[in-house]
Parts: sequence; C-alpha cells; structure tokens
Amino acid sequence: MLSANDLTELIQGYDRDPAKSYSLGAQSYTDERFLTIERECIFYRSWQWVCHVEKLREPGSYCVTDVQGRSIALVRDTTGTLRAFYNVCKHRAHELLKGEGKAKLIVCPYHAWSYDRAGALKGIPDQRNFPGIKPEEYGLIPLPLVERHGMIWVLPDPGGEIDLDALDRLLGDPTESTRLGDNGRRTVEEKLTWNGVALQMQRRYEEILRQS
Ligand code: FES
Repeated sequence: MLSANDLTELIQGYDRDPAKSYSLGAQSYTDERFLTIERECIFYRSWQWVCHVEKLREPGSYCVTDVQGRSIALVRDTTGTLRAFYNVCKHRAHELLKGEGKAKLIVCPYHAWSYDRAGALKGIPDQRNFPGIKPEEYGLIPLPLVERHGMIWVLPDPGGEIDLDALDRLLGDPTESTRLGDNGRRTVEEKLTWNGVALQMQRRYEEILRQS
C-alpha cells in the first residue's frame, strides 16, 4: 500500500503546466507498488491494442498476447466471430495456448481438457472423476473485444466498463490506420519501464529539438 507520504514525495516537481513541471520521483518508475496501481487503475480498465486483424482472418486462427502480466488468447471462431479469453484453463489454471497458429480445439497441455473456439468446455478425459460437473459452467472467461479500423482492442477485465466512445476518441481520425496491414511484429528487449517510454513518445519537446 502507498502512504500519503509516498504520494507527496512522488508529485514533488509536478505542475499542471508542462513548462513548469519536472520529472516525477524516481520511485514512480521503479517501485513495484506503483506498477501494481498503474495496472489496476490504467491498463486493466482501458482498451488495449493487441494486434492487426490480418493475423486472425481464418476461422480457428489464434494468437496469444500478454497485457501487463495477463495472458490473453484471441481466437476467430467457426462462425467468424473474434473472441478474447483469459488464456487459462478452468481446471488447474494451466496456460492453454502459446504463440499463434490455427486450432480446431483448444486443448490444455496439462490434463487435456478441451474447449471449442468459442470457449465452451467440450471434453474432460475420464470424466467419471468429476461427478456432477456441469461443463457449461466451466467455459473460458471471455473478455470484451472490438475491432476498429483493422486493429483489435481488448479490455483485459471481464467485468470492465465497455466505453467504446472513449476508444473512438482515442483513435481520432482513422484514415491513416485503415491503410495499415500486418507486416509482422518485432520484439525489442530492453530494460525500460512503460511510463519512461510513453513519456518520451509523447513529448513534443524532443521532436522540436530533433528538427532544429
Ligand atoms: S489444468 Fe488444464 S486440464 Fe488440468
């Protein structure tokens, strides 16, 4: 938990006017407690871009992504509907899918419970060991998903508030993004915090200096 003192220290140097504002305290970039709060208050409550729709054109195609520590599976089902689930088995919480590919059934690598592409539980090996189990109560946990201008967005909280207006405001004019396709993904591994990167990308100041 953060104390009032922590917060006071954190915002020293901050001013609403960017011209008068200095860096936040170093702990805001390094303290795990801040990251926990950022995840709960920002990332798990807002739409997160996950991939281009081209990656999931075919029925049965899937890909797995990680949103701030939550593994999420995206699947195109038999009817062509795109779906998102927590990538976690309802039996003993083993991870289900890895990477990307195509699958008729989602089969858990641990004890082989299987789910269809809409997330319904379809098979339990040796079901006699689970007397009274109701498969309809053990489907994968679905997450809100939308497609906008060829991009797929997920809300990483099954009970989260579905505010599509907020997403559309964020995206603004879609003209540019509709011309984009999926040309692959490049992963760059660096020891950086998300907020350090975001601040650099947002600042007009660096851009002005680069151009001068
Ligand atoms: S954890 Fe998935 S089948 Fe047991």
